[in-house]
Amino acid sequence: MPSRSFGGGITDDTPAVASLVLVLGIESSCDETAAAVVEDHRHVRSSVVATQHDLHAEFGGVVPEIASRAHAERILPTIRAAVSRAGVDLADLDAVAVGHRPGLVGSLLIGLTAAKSLAWVLGKPLVGVDHVHAHLVAGELGDRTNALPPETMFPALGLVVSGGHTSLYLMRSHTELTRLGATIDDAVGEAYDKVAAMLGLGHPGGPAVDRLAQEPHADERAFEFPLSRLGKDALDFTFSGLKTAVLYEVKGRPQPRKILGKPEVRVEPAPEMTPQRARDVAASFQRVAVESVMIRLRRAIDQHPGVRSLVVGGGVSANSRLRAEVARFAHEQDLAVALPAMQYCIDNGAMIAALGSRRLTAGEQDTLDDLIATPTTAC
Ligand code: KG4
Ligand code: ZN
Repeated sequence: MPSRSFGGGITDDTPAVASLVLVLGIESSCDETAAAVVEDHRHVRSSVVATQHDLHAEFGGVVPEIASRAHAERILPTIRAAVSRAGVDLADLDAVAVGHRPGLVGSLLIGLTAAKSLAWVLGKPLVGVDHVHAHLVAGELGDRTNALPPETMFPALGLVVSGGHTSLYLMRSHTELTRLGATIDDAVGEAYDKVAAMLGLGHPGGPAVDRLAQEPHADERAFEFPLSRLGKDALDFTFSGLKTAVLYEVKGRPQPRKILGKPEVRVEPAPEMTPQRARDVAASFQRVAVESVMIRLRRAIDQHPGVRSLVVGGGVSANSRLRAEVARFAHEQDLAVALPAMQYCIDNGAMIAALGSRRLTAGEQDTLDDLIATPTTAC
């Protein structure tokens, strides 16, 4: 069987015709209603994402009640579109996978109820998926997949950088993960969104900050924002100090003082926010945010020298600087790398279907009674 060649010069010896596993994936953990059909763990037959960004924009963040109502309206049309675009019948499916944790419980319940109903009516296996872990299979999805044969991929170092999570994992397989570190305060995507809000760039603002930081004349050294390392071997992350430093530069710096013996805080106004200053803030923030992630990646590789590949996922894996630095680091370290295609960085149903498919193949599935919506990640 000839090797198939994929992006990044990586080949895959999986036979072109294998026993196909066809899984429907359903995602509703936050503000995207999504469904997808994935064949053989990674070939995306369809992927439909109904985003709610317009509904939450005026509030500057996701409003849980609005999110669950929108999921309830959109879930069935989204599933119907995914099945029809995949050109399959519901009866052809091998399983129904659903993201059941972590997330907003009201939102998770909409996807979970749809998945349970379908699995029950169709008599198909139901597979629950941890949304954070699903981001780690996104790099293998689609036509330009970076798919690696498992024997050259594992053990892998997994990095999830999203709006709700920033975590590092040691992956022994797609389904066996140990968490090495996580953020102790904000997620990196959350920091991007807050900085975007400070600069008046709308929500979610990560892509807008990324674009601004890349504009000509943006000076990434204009501001020396703090780079928090925690301990010298720490694999946990922190972004709240960086976020606060940006806040002071944008909105002004509080000056505690005493007036007639009474403590008082006066805010020293920041200079006017010109377009050039906004570019400089975005570029300086992005340099430190990405470096903060890269420091942990380097430490993790030093601490786990047996790792063979680097697997990255989550909304912030769409970031231009992070992608470039991860690719360069992987090259330097002679590690294979899996970075998702742009459409699979943000929340989608295909990653849920793909991890569900892996779990199903590993002999794992859930029951209608036991699978529940859970706000936190499993690890
Ligand atoms: O994975 P995701 O869709 O949702 C969660 O699971 O949280 O990630 C969304 C996050 C948002 O914070 C968004 O601003 C950020 O990903 N994001 C980016 C970029 N694209 C999306 N952050 C930085 N640069 C980007 N290009
Ligand atoms: Zn996500």
